[in-house]
Amino acid sequence: MSIELAVIGGTGVYALGELADVETHQPDTRYGPPSGPVRVGTLAGKRVAFLARHGEGHSLPPHRINYRANLAALHALGITRVLALNTVGGITERFGPRVLACPDQLIDYTWGRVSTFCEEPGTEVLHVDFGDPYTPAWRRQILDAAQRAGVAVIDGGCYGATQGPRLETRAEIARMRRDGCDLVGMTGMPEAGLARELGLDYACLAIVANWAAGAGPEPDEVITLKDVLDNVAAAMDGVPRILHCLLSA
Ligand code: HPA
Repeated sequence: MSIELAVIGGTGVYALGELADVETHQPDTRYGPPSGPVRVGTLAGKRVAFLARHGEGHSLPPHRINYRANLAALHALGITRVLALNTVGGITERFGPRVLACPDQLIDYTWGRVSTFCEEPGTEVLHVDFGDPYTPAWRRQILDAAQRAGVAVIDGGCYGATQGPRLETRAEIARMRRDGCDLVGMTGMPEAGLARELGLDYACLAIVANWAAGAGPEPDEVITLKDVLDNVAAAMDGVPRILHCLLSA
């Protein structure tokens, strides 16, 4: 049975407990091994793949993730649709902790990451269109599924991808707000760009874990890992229902 879609899990999401009859793949690619095993299981009668972006034990910081290997491994399994779960900080008013959002734009502030498959000598140089970095029709399907599932997901928003692994300064977040960012995370790029180079349908379901530095009602609040993980766990509650509706469509 072909694999309907892949979910890439971010910080705080290391497995999809709802998958049944799980088969484990340990792929290798010309770019090296992905972050960990690809778990393929059944959900709503369809085969779904899951990959933990940081590794199942969260051992890889954002700048050390082999984004090319992750996407190449999914592509080699015949997967054409990727739902990327990204844990983020919220910058603008609507994007507070525990909110789910499906952004429609991004700004890339990362540096020094291998961000293209056009790296080796001899590979064709692609200049892929990236005006809409997330596949519009795929986003629509995810948002429609969320609506059917009765799970609130904000439609739109701009994801700013930072280098990490440290969190941002208040001045950096103020600048990102001026730039038009609503969300900040460390793993949105180069993943989205690489997915486009491979011709995959790719969309992000952002899980807001905290107010970004200085963005919340208490501007000097310290962001703790415990708050991040608690908020991700709470916001993840609706995600299996969204997947169920997405796969039942
Ligand atoms: N900044 C960047 N990445 C994040 C944050 C943040 O505040 N929270 C979760 N991932």
